[in-house]
Amino acid sequence: MAAEERATFGRYGFILAAVGSAIGLGNIWKFPYITYENGGGSFVLVYLAAILLIGFPLLMAEIAIGRRMRKSAVGAYAGIGEKASIGGRKWGLLGGFGVMTGALLLSYYAIIAGWTVFYLGKTIAWSTGGFDVPEGGLGSYFGGFLAQGPTQLLFQGVFMVFTTALVALGVTKGIERFTKAVMPVLGVVLLLLAINSVRAPGFGEAMGFLFHIGPITSNALLEAVGHAFFTLSLGMAAMVTYGSYVGRDQSIPKAGLMIALFDTVIALLACVVMFSIIFGVPEIARAESFGRSATILFTALPEMFYDLPLGSLLAPIFYALVGLAALTSTISLLEVVVSYFVDQKSWPRKKAAMIVGGGVFLLGIPSAMSLGASEFWTNFPVVGSRATGAFSVVDYFVSNWFLPIGGLATAILAGWFIKAEVLKDELELGHGTFKWFKAWQFALRVIAPVAIIWILIQVVGGKAF
Ligand code: PFF
Repeated sequence: MAAEERATFGRYGFILAAVGSAIGLGNIWKFPYITYENGGGSFVLVYLAAILLIGFPLLMAEIAIGRRMRKSAVGAYAGIGEKASIGGRKWGLLGGFGVMTGALLLSYYAIIAGWTVFYLGKTIAWSTGGFDVPEGGLGSYFGGFLAQGPTQLLFQGVFMVFTTALVALGVTKGIERFTKAVMPVLGVVLLLLAINSVRAPGFGEAMGFLFHIGPITSNALLEAVGHAFFTLSLGMAAMVTYGSYVGRDQSIPKAGLMIALFDTVIALLACVVMFSIIFGVPEIARAESFGRSATILFTALPEMFYDLPLGSLLAPIFYALVGLAALTSTISLLEVVVSYFVDQKSWPRKKAAMIVGGGVFLLGIPSAMSLGASEFWTNFPVVGSRATGAFSVVDYFVSNWFLPIGGLATAILAGWFIKAEVLKDELELGHGTFKWFKAWQFALRVIAPVAIIWILIQVVGGKAF
């Protein structure tokens, strides 16, 4: 196929698409529950520091590498490797590592995303037909849902079909147009929900919790730093790939700042909404209704919603919102893999999207069956961790190892091995003089590697995060 001119995002297209990638289940599902588990304010503070000192600088580095090379993961890392003092095109392997991590992450992320579609349907049914707590409570209802293999595969499959269709449409037509329409709506609805929660009985206590500064465990520190990668889509070349579609007239520092800012605001708004609902329940009942806090989004929340004024309107809107946020993230995950086949293997985009989308669905089957449906996959051991099950195995390796290692390698490459002028040029293109270059370089050279290596040592020492 003749080389086509590379698609380029429109003026706000890139920021919206990248914000869409960053904002997802990490913000709305994961961040509130890990904040809840880790005691609130202090955890939030460390997380904010990690975003500012590690995430934000690395985000700029990934976008700059992508735009400089105008190639997706493998081509971009190999190309920038030629400008590095060490390694040469072998840095392409780091891109390959990102492609593999992207496929793995998507294979189980799509399963959680599928739950939001199921709960959208369920809350519509509850809102129109009347809400009644299923027998045994919402916790055991959710557990039963997880253990239904065919249902899990169905919703995972539905989500993969949506994702594949949008990626097949292409970067500007599919991804940009879709995120442009969805992201602003998302922000507005979440803001409305947050404003509405001011009237919720638990609002005062929720704010107290969110701003309470107390002692913090080392485990919480680890989790906060690890989550900074996950939430900003770093460490697996997603931002390199999106960066390759950014026009030369755009400012990378400004775009990076907007992405980090929006992502953080949405995560905090999600906490306000969730905690206002959670803290509205008396403490004793709270422990009982939540059981494991990781399931709050799907067990405690529906019940809380139907206790709130306007709840039957808010509940389906909320799940639609979470589903759409997940979709703009799954698109970026699939794009990392698809663009590899388009750029490196010259496959037509539609063919690549369908084959890769189908492949990732198959890759996710063991995880989908490991939530109770299949005994074999449910009891599959995780090397080095106490958790079991295929889902946990993949999540363990991706979150605890692959993202931090990918991020560390990129920070070292950009901070130490690529000529400073190359990246400085790129950061100043479309921006003007970048006053903070030295600080940025220090963050990549010293702060990020020290923090990440420290995390990895803790993980090796058995403190899985
Ligand atoms: N940032 C997404 C979230 O917070 O849900 C998850 C994610 C998307 C991670 C894309 C990595 C990625 F490349």
